[in-house]
Amino acid sequence: MALIAPSLLSADFLNLQKDCDMLNASEADWFHLDVMDGRFVPNISFGFPVIEPVCKATTKTCDVHLMILEPGNYAEAFQKAGADILTVHYEACAHLHRNLQQIRSLGMKAGVALNPHTPVYLLSDILQDIDLVCIMSVNPGFGGQKFIPQTLSKIAELKKMITDKNLATLIEIDGGVTLENAPSILAAGADVLVAGNTVFKSADPTATIAALKKL
Ligand code: DX5
Ligand code: ZN
Repeated sequence: MALIAPSLLSADFLNLQKDCDMLNASEADWFHLDVMDGRFVPNISFGFPVIEPVCKATTKTCDVHLMILEPGNYAEAFQKAGADILTVHYEACAHLHRNLQQIRSLGMKAGVALNPHTPVYLLSDILQDIDLVCIMSVNPGFGGQKFIPQTLSKIAELKKMITDKNLATLIEIDGGVTLENAPSILAAGADVLVAGNTVFKSADPTATIAALKKL
């Protein structure tokens, strides 16, 4: 059964308490929080004044996706803000091994996100140090984009790498996940589905989460 991680980016920012309450009462497993710096990606989202109260308000695992340069400068602050999982981008880290060690030493799970153009084999020598690989299935920076089909073969390739090395690393898919394409994403080997628009723009978010969970 997949883990479901609704993305805060598509929530109603004037009613975050309402969306937190909905999520807490739902079958969601994680809350996915997207941090954008306007440098690594061409958009700015939200930072600590949003993340801290949301992590306090939710009973779910806080899955923080950093789309920022120099994430190491802020790892401790995200841990203090309540992050359980901290994901950095491969493309933003010249010293990825150091970044992952830092995240784990702060007591968080360490994730690595890959842009659509970054091949999964680049992680082969560091996979044992990663708790979660987030394969971006859209170009990071915006919610509501279309799923890139090439992602499916990346998932299958990464799944084989993880199985061959006998690791427990989770595969998360982020961007353009819908009720229609989720079955093929799961069949390829994904463990965690991020869903922004699919959940929060649906008529009944709780039912949509339950439907994703059932797949
Ligand atoms: C995009 C973010 C995603 C986004 C997904 O850069 O990383 O987490 O919220 O939104 P949807 O599911 O609407 O594509
Ligand atoms: Zn994300």
